[in-house]
Amino acid sequence: MRENLIVANWKLNGDWSLCKKFASYEWVIPNNTSVIVCPPNIYLKSFCEALTKNESPLKSGAQDVSEWSGGAYTGHISATMLKEASLEYVIIGHSERRQWCMETDEQVALKVRQALMVGLHPIVCVGESLEQREADQTLKVIESQLSPVLRVLEELGTSLKDVSFAYEPRWAIGTGKSATPEQAQLVHKSIREFSSTLDSSKNLRILYGGSVTDANINSLLAMSDINGALVGGASLKAETFDALIKQTN
Ligand code: PGA
Repeated sequence: MRENLIVANWKLNGDWSLCKKFASYEWVIPNNTSVIVCPPNIYLKSFCEALTKNESPLKSGAQDVSEWSGGAYTGHISATMLKEASLEYVIIGHSERRQWCMETDEQVALKVRQALMVGLHPIVCVGESLEQREADQTLKVIESQLSPVLRVLEELGTSLKDVSFAYEPRWAIGTGKSATPEQAQLVHKSIREFSSTLDSSKNLRILYGGSVTDANINSLLAMSDINGALVGGASLKAETFDALIKQTN
């Protein structure tokens, strides 16, 4: 059985005191669930150390990685640097990076390549805007976002166990208006079908993201192709995140 993956994406939020609280919190995590917390980069190394010191069941991930392995790229952080800080996971291609940093599908694929080359597990985000959904373009958009990534996976011979995809409709992120489980399931199923040219796509974990809370996580995870969640707002307080995790049982 694939276990559920719950990923907290703090974005440009949180501080060291929140990191410490998460690292020492008494989490009760169901057996079939893994939980990854992604604070801003500046905290990552110390956060990983605090998790180890507290024997926390949480793991830590980064919110982004450079598409370059090194060189004159001011402000970038490489996959090797993340790996050296003991990270295992990295979010790539979040819609906010696509929107505010003009990240392209090709750049996302290069980042996935960098992550895989050093053994980091990429969590690759895809999703359509409201206009694209209304124009019935959802699946077309998702396929074009995924294609360059699948080419990299094929080229590197990557097993679909070593990557996760996150379907995050843009109109659902931070709006309080989640996709219905049925709407999400439809897209998740196509993502699985689309990836099946590579490897046994039953190994692939596909997370849903966009206004996930303790009130809707259960019905989302009840769908056969939803294997976890990428959580923004509801991951910024230990108590609300804890309530959400408890619902994943
Ligand atoms: P949200 O964010 O849970 O606040 O909607 C999700 C995300 O952007 O990953």
